[in-house]
Amino acid sequence: MELDIKSTIKRMEELYELGTQPDGTHTRIAFSEEDKRARDRYIGYFQEIGIEPIIDQAGNIIARMDGKDNDLPSIVIGSHLDTVPDGGKYDGVLGCMAGLAVCEAYKKSGQKPMHPMEVIVFTDEEGARFGSGMLGSSAMCGIDLGISDSDTDIYGETRSAVFGRCGLRVENISKAIRAKDSIHCFFELHIEQGARLYKSRTPIGIVTGIAGVSRCEIRIDGEANHSGSTAMSDRKDALAAAAAFIAQLPDMVQAYGNEYTVGTVGSMKVLPGSVNVIPGSCIFSLEFRDQNEDVIRLLEERAGEYIHKVCADYKCSCALKKTADHKPSPMTGWVVEGIEAAAKESGAEYRKIPSGAFHDSLVMSEVYPTGMIFVPSVNGISHSRHEHTEEGDIKKGMEVLWRVVEHVDRRNLS
Ligand code: GLV
Ligand code: MN
Ligand code: MN
Repeated sequence: MELDIKSTIKRMEELYELGTQPDGTHTRIAFSEEDKRARDRYIGYFQEIGIEPIIDQAGNIIARMDGKDNDLPSIVIGSHLDTVPDGGKYDGVLGCMAGLAVCEAYKKSGQKPMHPMEVIVFTDEEGARFGSGMLGSSAMCGIDLGISDSDTDIYGETRSAVFGRCGLRVENISKAIRAKDSIHCFFELHIEQGARLYKSRTPIGIVTGIAGVSRCEIRIDGEANHSGSTAMSDRKDALAAAAAFIAQLPDMVQAYGNEYTVGTVGSMKVLPGSVNVIPGSCIFSLEFRDQNEDVIRLLEERAGEYIHKVCADYKCSCALKKTADHKPSPMTGWVVEGIEAAAKESGAEYRKIPSGAFHDSLVMSEVYPTGMIFVPSVNGISHSRHEHTEEGDIKKGMEVLWRVVEHVDRRNLS
């Protein structure tokens, strides 16, 4: 049996093109027309090999292939198709296409695995639209993300309007929950999205654990006033306060974190947003990630204290609202060992690394035995149109995935 690498690459190109925007960039943000087009095309690939995927109540696409013994729990491969704005070709898509390639190889050979095999495309992994991701995988794992109809997205639309167009309902999302014993184990092949593998010229990363992530929205209120006639000493400038806080962020992370700790302000709205008006309000995101939950909690505390101090200095007020909170999670020991054995057998060099990016595997690992395989991102670039992974590395990553799936299936490893 052989995996079709060329078709995998071609399909990734095809889905990327389906995300083309009027300005020539490529974005497939969750729940968009582009996302729908890509999902439909992806379903089409499965239909071409005789598998009819179903969509669960959280919008996850589930393609199931019978095993010899359908009473066994499924071996599941999955990832996501949605992207960040102007994202790349590989983030998420690689894992979905690799799962398809595994099913395709079985179908072409006429052989069947022992276990049923499932490939899952999870809904809204990135969270680029509403600010919190891993929606579909969280629903499957029974994790309540606290979403509501009145949530607003980056375009100002409500969740109920956006979901309505996609045939989803907030109250039905939790019905996508799956029994723990229905999944034997879960695998995700993904690009590293960092530079460790690329810099060390290592084609395979075996993920040991995924960083937790804490996000909040900070709103600073000052006073909008005339930019020409208001003396500097009389101002309540919300953006100046935000800037003072953000300027301290790198030092704060360094002081309380470690080599894996990161803190980011990734989006900001300035109101009223006019060249001749002192910013009256400023709303921005703040995110911390680390492999250790205590570090995240400490940074949340320090950031909370500091933002209040800065706002007092600038005669402004502030309010913090939590928008996402996921604990760090280690990958499952026996799955990691299985991937390591597969990597050794394939002859590919590998190293064990933690993931700073989150993935559906973060939440899946809380319920189901889970493991991830990374392949290098050229120059460590991701969440960008410049994201690239060499074909040779994709091939190696898919081979390791394929081998570990076969081992787990034949030997019923656990
Ligand atoms: C998703 O890719 C994330 O780590 O934000
Ligand atoms: Mn991803
Ligand atoms: Mn991503």
